[in-house]
Amino acid sequence: MTRFLLLLLLGFFVVGSGSRAEASDPIVIRFSHVVSEQAPKGVGALRFKELAEARLPGRVQVEVYPSSRKFTDEEVVPALLFGDVELAAPSMVILRGYAPALQVYELPFLFKDVAHIRRFQAGPTGQMLLNSMLPRGIRGLGYWDGGMRVLSANKPLHSPADASGLMFRTESSQIFQRAYDRIGVVTLPLPFRLLADAIRDGLVDGQENSWPNIYTRGIHKLHRYYTPLHHTFLGYMVIANDDFWTRLPADVRPVLEEILAEVTREVNELARQEAETLAQKAASEAEIEVLPLNENELAEWRSAFTPVWREFEPVIGADVIEAAVAAEGAAR
Ligand code: LMR
Repeated sequence: MTRFLLLLLLGFFVVGSGSRAEASDPIVIRFSHVVSEQAPKGVGALRFKELAEARLPGRVQVEVYPSSRKFTDEEVVPALLFGDVELAAPSMVILRGYAPALQVYELPFLFKDVAHIRRFQAGPTGQMLLNSMLPRGIRGLGYWDGGMRVLSANKPLHSPADASGLMFRTESSQIFQRAYDRIGVVTLPLPFRLLADAIRDGLVDGQENSWPNIYTRGIHKLHRYYTPLHHTFLGYMVIANDDFWTRLPADVRPVLEEILAEVTREVNELARQEAETLAQKAASEAEIEVLPLNENELAEWRSAFTPVWREFEPVIGADVIEAAVAAEGAAR
């Protein structure tokens, strides 16, 4: 073999091994969300990173962007579709434009508690909803809990009449807007990132959220009064760009799915614990008053809010609502 041929072969191997090194670069998964790293969703995103990088060393690199550092609630789904982020776990309110039936999760007083929601999510309709955005290129990978929503305001709210005339920050939900309209509350749908400033600046008088969000955003230092109305549930769907997810290598995807299932259990357990403990923790740090409702007060809120079910039934589907109602009494 001539010296020239040897050099040529050597060159081929050098170039060849270089391209092999590129092919083995880790797969980068960017996970963007809007809450604090201490809220259950924030803890879950970091835990996913920890487990994915430990079990797939060198194969996967997870970058977590908390607190709307990369995208706000409304921006994250288009970003996922454009390939600017691979994973997200938005509140399902954000997803209504992609699958209107998901608004079942917004109907006031439909779900009695987290156990009721879990039964619905594990059943056929809940699983159908998880896959309902596939035609739009979005894959639902699991449900993460935030917690039941609590009202907070700068005045005590026992009955709907107490709230009349106030301005509330809510998520961008048509159902929430219609429900609050019925009791004379004006809703201002602001991104979560602006919530604390909107309260501090007096732009809004009240808001509704889960205890983990109230505590980790320091709302307990801004609002004095808390009504545990538990009228709706703040739930998340972990979503991926379907194209990205289905193209993951065969030895990577099942491991990530197994990790997600594990993290889902942890997040939901943490959300459950914090729903019980954070009100007390908030009360130890700030002067707050939690105002439990009696049966009559609860009935007033219920009869003010529930007529919106009928209004949104054609959009959500009577069958979906019926399945959600039926899950309350389904076998445990
Ligand atoms: C909110 O906007 O209040 C929540 O959906 C934020 C979140 O993701 O928990």
